[in-house]
Amino acid sequence: MCGPSHDPARTPHPVRTSPGPRTNTFCPHGSTHFRVPLALHSGRVGPQAYKLDPQAPRPGGQPMSTPPPPPPRAPLASGAEDPDPLRPLLDTVLDALRSGRHARGGPLPAGGPDTVTAKLRAAVGDVLPDHGDPDALRTLVHALAEGAADPADPLCAAHLHCPPLAVAAAADLAASVLNPSLDSWDQAPAASALEALVTRELAHATGLADAVVTTGGTESNQLALLLARESHPGGVRLVCGANAHHSLPRAAWLLGLPEPVVVPAPAGTLDPAALHQALTDLAGPHGPGSPRTPLVVAATAGTTDAGLIDPLPEIAGLCAAHGARLHVDAAHGGGLLFSDRHRDKLTGLEAAHTVTLDLHKLGWQPVPAGLLAVRHPRDLTALHHRADYLNAGDDTEAGIPDLVGRSLRTTRRPDILKVAATLKTLGRSGLGALVDQVCARARELADLIHADPGLELYDRPTISTVLFRPAGATDDTVAAVRRTLLTDGRAVLGRARLDDRLWLKATLLNPHTQSEDLATLLKLVEGSTPA
Ligand SMILES: Cc1ncc(COP(=O)(O)O)c(C=O)c1O
Repeated sequence: MCGPSHDPARTPHPVRTSPGPRTNTFCPHGSTHFRVPLALHSGRVGPQAYKLDPQAPRPGGQPMSTPPPPPPRAPLASGAEDPDPLRPLLDTVLDALRSGRHARGGPLPAGGPDTVTAKLRAAVGDVLPDHGDPDALRTLVHALAEGAADPADPLCAAHLHCPPLAVAAAADLAASVLNPSLDSWDQAPAASALEALVTRELAHATGLADAVVTTGGTESNQLALLLARESHPGGVRLVCGANAHHSLPRAAWLLGLPEPVVVPAPAGTLDPAALHQALTDLAGPHGPGSPRTPLVVAATAGTTDAGLIDPLPEIAGLCAAHGARLHVDAAHGGGLLFSDRHRDKLTGLEAAHTVTLDLHKLGWQPVPAGLLAVRHPRDLTALHHRADYLNAGDDTEAGIPDLVGRSLRTTRRPDILKVAATLKTLGRSGLGALVDQVCARARELADLIHADPGLELYDRPTISTVLFRPAGATDDTVAAVRRTLLTDGRAVLGRARLDDRLWLKATLLNPHTQSEDLATLLKLVEGSTPA
C-alpha cells in the first residue's frame, strides 16, 4: 500500500464495488498497487502463477531455485482483461485534450518558439525520472494539446494538415492496441487481408490496379521513382514541373538518378508546350518516342502552394507520344476522387503508371495515410525480397501471403484500418460532401477577398487553397503579417511564392469552418498589417 503521504485526491485509486475488469494503479512514490497480478494480462497465465511454491517441482522435475519474477509494472492495452485497462486512461487522455485546448484558447500557443519550448519543458520536467509519475499521461497530453497548432481550429489553415475525423482516430486506437505488423501474415492475418481489399479499392478509384500503403506523399513519390528506375535497367531521368513537390527531385537524388529536367510552370502548372519541347530535346537519335535516357514525367494534381492541377490529359498524351512514363503526384488533389462535383478535375489520372495519394491531406486521416497506386500489380515485383523469417519460400508455396514486397519498410502499422473505417462509415458520398464543403468555403473566402479593397486575391481556388495578400504590401510586410499572427497565437497561415511575389496561403481543410471564421481570419490579417 501507499505510505501516509500519498494524496488520494491527486491520484485517486479506483475503488471497485463490483466484480469485473480491474486496473492497477501506481503510487507516486514508486510502489505499485496491484489489484490483480498483471501477468494475468498475458492471457495464458492464471492467478495461481503468483501462488506457486518456489520449492514445488517444476514441469521438468527440478525445484524452482528462484522466486517467480515480479509482475510487470504496467497494464497491457489488451490481453486477458481485454482493453479494459485502457478505459480510465482514455478518460484521462480525453480530459487532458480538452483542458489543453482550453488552456491554449486559440489555433496555436502564443509567444513563439522560445516561449512554447520553455513552457513545455517546465510542464514535462524530467522525461526519464528514477520513479514513475502516475500523472505523466495527463501532463504530457495536456502540454501537447496546449502547445498544438490545432488543425481543427478554423483559424489554423496554413498547410495540407487536416483535422482528423473522430472515427479515424478511434480506429487508429484499435490499430495501436492490436499492433499488427504488416511485414508478415503471421503478425497480421486479418489486417493484411483488409489492407489488400482497401488498397485495391482505392487503386480502382484512380483507374489503376493496385496500391501499396506508405507514410505519405514523400514516400509514395520516392517509391514511384524507384519503380520507374527498376522498370528501366539503364535507369531513368525525372522530368518534372517547377511546381512539383520537393520530394520528387529529392527522390531522384536519393535514388542516384541523373539531375532532373525541370520544366517551367509559369502559371503554377506544368506548361504542356514547355514539356513537349523538353521531351523533344531529350529525344535520342531515333527521334520522338525514343528518348536517349528513359524518362519519367511527374505531373501534379493539387500543387502544394496553390492547389493547382496540371493539365493531365495533355501531359498523358505527350508522355505516350514521347515514350515517357507518367507519374502523377495527387497527394493533395487525390481526395477529389470522392466528389461527384470535383472528380472530373482529375481526368487523365487513369493514364498514369503510378499515382501518389495521401489521405492525411484531403482525406481527414491522422498521419500517416499515404498510398502509391500502380497500373499493373506486376509493377510491384521490383519490391519483392526474400527474408526467410518473414516469407520463407515454402511458406509462400503453402499459401501464406508474402507481405514483404508490399513495402520497403519492415515493421509496419495497419494504417489501413483508420482509412477503411472512414471509407465505410462515411461512404463515397459522405467523403465527397466533406470535399465539396471545403472547396465551397475556399470559394467563399476568395469572394470575400475579391470584394475587399484592402486585400488582393491571387486567383479563384481550384481545390481549397486561397492565396492573397494585403493590397500594396511588400513581400517583407506579407511575411511579417504571417509571423505576427503566429507569434500572437491568433492564426496559422502559410506562405507561397507565385509570380515572384509572396502570398499568404489559406488551405481550408476543415469541413466545420463557418463563414464567420473566414471573416475573422481576414480581419486578423488586416488588423496585423501596418497602415
Ligand atoms: C503535392 C505534394 N506531394 C507530396 C507531398 C509530401 O507529402 P507528405 O508530407 O505526406 O510526405 C506534399 C506535401 O504537402 C504535397 O503537397
